[in-house]
Amino acid sequence: MTATAGSSPALPTPSYPMERTCPYAMPAGYGPLREHRPLSRVSLYDGRSVWLVSGSDVGRALILDPRISCDTAHPSFPSLTESMASRQMPGLPLIGVDDPLHARQRRWISSAFGIRRIAALRPAIERTAARLVDAMLAAGDRADLVRAYAMPLASDTTFALLGMPHRDRPHVDALITRLLSPVDEEDGRTPEELLAQLLDYLKRLLTDRQRAPGDDLIDDLVAAHRPLTPQDLDTLAMTCVVLMSGGNETTSTTLSTAVLALLDHPAQLDRLRRDPSLMPGAVEELLRISSVTDALPRVAVEDIDIAGHTIEAGDGVLFSTMLMNRDPDVWDSPDTFDVHRRTGRHVAFGFGIHQCVGQNLARAEMDIALTTLLHRIPTIRLDVPSHQVRSVAVHVQLGGVAELPVTW
Ligand code: HEM
Repeated sequence: MTATAGSSPALPTPSYPMERTCPYAMPAGYGPLREHRPLSRVSLYDGRSVWLVSGSDVGRALILDPRISCDTAHPSFPSLTESMASRQMPGLPLIGVDDPLHARQRRWISSAFGIRRIAALRPAIERTAARLVDAMLAAGDRADLVRAYAMPLASDTTFALLGMPHRDRPHVDALITRLLSPVDEEDGRTPEELLAQLLDYLKRLLTDRQRAPGDDLIDDLVAAHRPLTPQDLDTLAMTCVVLMSGGNETTSTTLSTAVLALLDHPAQLDRLRRDPSLMPGAVEELLRISSVTDALPRVAVEDIDIAGHTIEAGDGVLFSTMLMNRDPDVWDSPDTFDVHRRTGRHVAFGFGIHQCVGQNLARAEMDIALTTLLHRIPTIRLDVPSHQVRSVAVHVQLGGVAELPVTW
C-alpha cells in the first residue's frame, strides 16, 4: 500500500479494532482517525496493516468501486480478530461474494423484504413486543433488556420472516446464539459442529417445504430453485444462516444501544414522548450514532488511486460506518444525539450492492419496539450508572451493549 505525495502527514498506525467504552460513542482512538480522514492505516491483530476509511464521500465512492471485493475466499481478505479469522468462511452467500453471483443470490430474497411483506409482518412484531413487555412486567420491576426484550424480539421477527415453524424456534435460536458467541468450553461443541447441526436442520426444513410450500422467505428460496439439488440445499441452508445471523444480533444490539442512548438523554427522550411523530427520524439518528456494524471488511483486487493515496491490489480495506456517520463535513456537531436531525446520508446499513437487505424490516422493528417500550413502561430507567453498562467485546464483531439492566 502506498501513501502518495499531497496526502496529510502519516499517522502512527494504531491497533484496530478499538473498544468502545460507551456503547453508542466513538472509541477514544477514533478522534485522530477522524482528523486524518478520509483514509488512514490501522494495524490488525496479526500485525497486518490495512486501510481504514473514515470519510463519508470517499467511503461511499470507494465501496461502490468494482475493484473493491467482498470475496471472503480471497487470500488477503482481512479479519479483525484471530477468532474471526478462524471462523472466516469462503464464499458465504450474499455477504461473501461479488456480482454477478451476488446479484443473482439477492434476487432470491428481495421480494420477501418488499413493502407489502414487511407491512404484513408488523402485527406479528407488535404482538411479540407486547408479549415480551407483559412478561417483563409480570416478572418484577427490573430486567436485562438485552435478553428479556431485544434478543427475543429480533429473533422472533427473523423466524417469522423466514417462516420457521414455531416448534423449532427455541432449538434454532439456541444454536445460532451459541454459534455467534465466543467459544464456550463447557458446551463442548465446536463452532464447526454447531454450524453442521444448524445446516442439517435447515436442509431438512428446505426439503420439507418443497413438498408443502408456504408464503415465506424459505418458500421463496425453494421456489427459485425447485427441484433442489444437493448443492442448492447447501447454498440455501447457508443463506438462511446468513439471514439469521445478519438479522438477529444486529437488530438486538442496535435496539439495546438505542434504549441506552435515549435513557442517557432525558431531554431527547422527553421530546420523543411528547411528539411520537418524531420516532422515524429518531430511529435514523439512533442508527447513525450507534453504528453497531462498524468496520465493513473488503479487499482491493486492483490498484485504486483515491484521495491522494494508492490502495494496492491485495490491500485490506475497512469501511468504518461509525466514522463515516460522524464525518464533520456532512453533519454539524456529529457526536451530538439529536432526535430532530435529518440523517438521510447515514451508512449504518452499509452502502452499495451489499447495503442491508433487511433495513426496512429493522426500521419497523426499532419503531415498534421503542414505541411499545416507552408507552407501556413510562417509568423505565437504567438500573446501574450509565458508565457501568458494558460494551460488547470487540471480538464479537459488533459494537453496542452486552447487557442493559433497567428498572421501572
Ligand atoms: C439495525 C439492524 C441492522 C443493521 C445495523 C444492519 C447492518 C447491515 C450492514 C452494515 C450491512 C452491510 C454489510 C457490508 O456491506 O459488508 C448489512 C447487510 C446485510 N444485512 Fe443487515 N443490518 C440490520 C438488520 C438486518 C435484518 C433484520 C436482516 C434480515 C433479517 C439483515 C440481513 C442482512 C443481509 C442478508 C445482509 C447482506 C446483504 C448483501 O450482502 O447483499 N440485516 N446489514
